Amino acid sequence: MRTPIIAGNWKMNNTISQSLQLVEEIKSYDLNERVEVVLCVPFTNLQEVKKSIEGTSIKLGAQNMHWEESGAYTGEISPLMLKELGVTYVIIGHSERRQYFNETDETVNKKIKAALNHELKPIVCVGETLEEREANIEKDIVRKQVLKAFDDIEGKEIKDIVIAYEPIWAIGTGKTASSEDANDMIGFIRKIIGEKYGEEEKNIIRIQYGGSVKPSSIKELMEKSEIDGALVGGASLKAEDFHKLINY
Ligand code: G3P
Repeated sequence: MRTPIIAGNWKMNNTISQSLQLVEEIKSYDLNERVEVVLCVPFTNLQEVKKSIEGTSIKLGAQNMHWEESGAYTGEISPLMLKELGVTYVIIGHSERRQYFNETDETVNKKIKAALNHELKPIVCVGETLEEREANIEKDIVRKQVLKAFDDIEGKEIKDIVIAYEPIWAIGTGKTASSEDANDMIGFIRKIIGEKYGEEEKNIIRIQYGGSVKPSSIKELMEKSEIDGALVGGASLKAEDFHKLINY
């Protein structure tokens, strides 16, 4: 069976001192050893957070990366730099990167390949806008995102990839998708993986839900057969809430 994975995406929040305080508060609670816990923190916090989580089962994650190892890409961070800092997971294709920073299905695909080539585990974000859902084309949109993201990715690599379905209209809005809708879309994504690779890969890949996940909604989401975890923004910034999420 697939190991549940709960990842906190801190986004552009927390200085180093604030990060260390939050991590200490998270560590003060019992971790749920049957759940894989990941903290995806700002680049500036990676080194200190890595030190702080040493000795725990918490994994370190980044929120983005470039696909090149080095070069004239002002402001960017390479997979080599993340690897050196002990990063395990890297969020790729978050809707905020697509919306504000010109992330495309093509760059998402390049970044996934680069992450895998550097033994980093991609958390690949897909999801529709409210307009696309209201137009009933959400599954067309997500299918395209998934197929382009996984273009030229081999089946043996699926075990190292997590997908996060994040309906854009639920991110930061307090509007969580219903557990039924989330489960339906995640089951649809899993079916696409099965059609592209086969039954084994279909059953191996872990798919999270993201979008206003709170302690009040996590249990119902995690009871759904297709949902393997959550990618959490706001609620990951409060140790007590994050503890409730990982102990759903
Ligand atoms: O990557 C997770 C994020 O997009 C969800 O944010 O604040 O709605 O949990 P939030």
